[in-house]
Amino acid sequence: MRVKIVKDYKAISEAAADVVEAALKGKPDLVLGLATGSTPLGMYEELIKRHQGGMDFSKATTFNLDEYFGLSSDHQASYHYYMEEQLFRHINIDPANTYIPNGINPDPMEECKNYETQMKTAGGIDLQILGIGTNGHIGFNEPGAPFGGTTSLVDLAQETVNANARFFQKLDEVPRQAISMGIKSIMNCAEIVLLANGAHKADAVSQALLGPVTEKLPASVLQLHPNCLFIIDEAAAAKLPIT
Ligand code: GLP
Repeated sequence: MRVKIVKDYKAISEAAADVVEAALKGKPDLVLGLATGSTPLGMYEELIKRHQGGMDFSKATTFNLDEYFGLSSDHQASYHYYMEEQLFRHINIDPANTYIPNGINPDPMEECKNYETQMKTAGGIDLQILGIGTNGHIGFNEPGAPFGGTTSLVDLAQETVNANARFFQKLDEVPRQAISMGIKSIMNCAEIVLLANGAHKADAVSQALLGPVTEKLPASVLQLHPNCLFIIDEAAAAKLPIT
């Protein structure tokens, strides 16, 4: 696992956009895995700017990590809505090539199976962008999620519900379940870039990088991935030993 420590959030966003840009240049039909939450917002802003300067997404395909269970795509807190607003409507990606789990499929098991099939049919994810939860979750794989898990309907930890309440009017509006790629789905991606900023992520980052590889801290599994880069700012790196 490689770690790039940069000064601040702006530098994370630019470095992450650099990785995406290089991957897209090398493979215009890139299969790109995307994340939501606050962390990748700056990277999306940067990608939009670069698209305005000529970066071409016309042949790319995207797969998002997760979606809240029970939220339709027009719900303002859904990840469908987020992706549309923060990226898709600003770039030249073909909407038919953007995949996000359908949070209102009445048969979530079928949805999960289909999502895995769609990823396989697309040839697998070339580059996956990840954030990290304060409890070490990746996607919506909460502590205890099995390393062998594929896309599934998962329960959210109370800590995650609380952390994500800021995107909803009231705490009790936050869904308690989500459809999320599993740890195994994430580990199958050819390349992974995890982004983290801020002092509130310092514990999760240091445990993910230096702690034992354990299902209790989902991001620790990334220590076993052959091509994974953490791009973090100084605040998120505060609990790492200085080298
Ligand atoms: C959310 C998402 C994750 C995200 C994480 C961190 O619950 N499901 O994919 O990486 O929590 O969010 P943030 O970037 O807002 O801190």
